[in-house]
Amino acid sequence: MRALIVPAPAKLNLFLHVTGRRPDGYHTLESLFVALDFGDTLSLAVRDDGVVARLGEHPGLPAADDLAVRAAHALRQATGTTMGVDIAVVKRTPVGGGLGGGSSDAASVLLALNRLWGLRLSRAALARIGLGLGADVPFFLCGTPAIARGVGEQLTPVTLPALWVTVWVPPVAVSTPSIFADPELTRDTASAKMDVFSEGYGRNDLQPIAAARHPDIAVALAALKKHAPLARMTGSGACVFAPFGTARLARAALAARPPGFAGFVARTLARHPLADFA
Ligand code: C5P
Repeated sequence: MRALIVPAPAKLNLFLHVTGRRPDGYHTLESLFVALDFGDTLSLAVRDDGVVARLGEHPGLPAADDLAVRAAHALRQATGTTMGVDIAVVKRTPVGGGLGGGSSDAASVLLALNRLWGLRLSRAALARIGLGLGADVPFFLCGTPAIARGVGEQLTPVTLPALWVTVWVPPVAVSTPSIFADPELTRDTASAKMDVFSEGYGRNDLQPIAAARHPDIAVALAALKKHAPLARMTGSGACVFAPFGTARLARAALAARPPGFAGFVARTLARHPLADFA
């Protein structure tokens, strides 16, 4: 096999609690992650010359910073393979949105290249490499909705009812490190006692910080809560989302987004589309 086209789904954090801070500055979290049937598409074609190249330009995302490209380099470094790859990305997941687009691209590249380069690494080995690229990467390698603990690498698979979700994309890109570094951040949310979470459980501890810094996020939350009281931010923002029982309700909430906002309707996934990749 010389080429593959693979999806890289976006994710939501249905809740995100910051439980502490490690000596290295990273924060410990407790967060419920679920993938969506919305995201990027990557095309990968093997090269024999060892070069990792990204085809196409993405404004604001230089190839050297692109987690898809960095994942290929990390895998070459970890395994010593002499193979290379051309990577083309159809980018739909907004950057700086809290939807894990870059991390998901990285995870899908690791899975695809593990096959294309014939590496036979285990998922656990891929997750160790992925964690070095971003704290959200291991989730995308786990294959199911999951509760993440640690900085995101300790994953407990969970079963969730399928949800329709409306996601609004405010016209701002949030810097994740600056949200985590904010002195006002709550860093001592108690760990949940059980892995059983009712609808609307918990909150996003990063939300008050992001909403205070970016008025568009505060406006979006207030407006979306009129359609669904459970409206919440995902990750470190900027995107806000709400669950709905039907596609019709989800589409109505999408149509009500403020002027200048992008958005989409999606379904949550019980399994990652590459869950069966070795
Ligand atoms: O790993 P990722 O690239 O997503 O993280 C971006 C930044 O967010 C980190 O450099 C760190 O400053 C902050 N972060 C954190 N604790 C986490 C995840 C991210 O402090 N669990």
